[in-house]
Amino acid sequence: MKVGIYPGSFDPITLGHLDIIIRASKLMDHLVIGVLNNISKKTIFTEDERVRFIERVLKEYNLDSRIKVEAFQGLLVDFAKAKNASFIVRGLRAITDFDYELQLAQTNHKIMPDIDTIFFTTRLEYSYLSSSTVREIASFGGDIKQFVPECIVQSVYDKFKAIGSV
Ligand code: PNS
Repeated sequence: MKVGIYPGSFDPITLGHLDIIIRASKLMDHLVIGVLNNISKKTIFTEDERVRFIERVLKEYNLDSRIKVEAFQGLLVDFAKAKNASFIVRGLRAITDFDYELQLAQTNHKIMPDIDTIFFTTRLEYSYLSSSTVREIASFGGDIKQFVPECIVQSVYDKFKAIGSV
């Protein structure tokens, strides 16, 4: 059985992430979306919110049978091994991603040679898109409808309202 892990901060999930999830899931029997919970990496959305957003999106797009979401702490390769995954999935948007992604993939492969990283080049329309762009736009009350799945738009705005930024 081919199991893949798609790890990330997902702070919050974007349409770019969703595109990778859909494409990667076609290659795998089972895809686990790993939501990083790392106290040294500050996020706007809590672990629980980030996981629930993704669960909501999977349900909305009828993807929730073969694709699961789980938060993880510690090393990605340990999480991948615990899930019996042979693949780590990452998206590459632009050349600026490459250096970091190559380092991550090669380090992970050095630690756990059984696990390979597969890269998906993002669709052109999402090549500029990141969670940080979404957070920036939402924090000023701008329109994020074309950047995140419709079913989480209001919750993203609500969060920024709750933290007093809009
Ligand atoms: O969405 P992001 O923030 O670019 O995802 C980064 C992520 C989660 C893939 C990366 O930070 C990660 O794997 N963190 C877990 C710790 C780890 O295993 N680091 C790699 C060895 S240096």
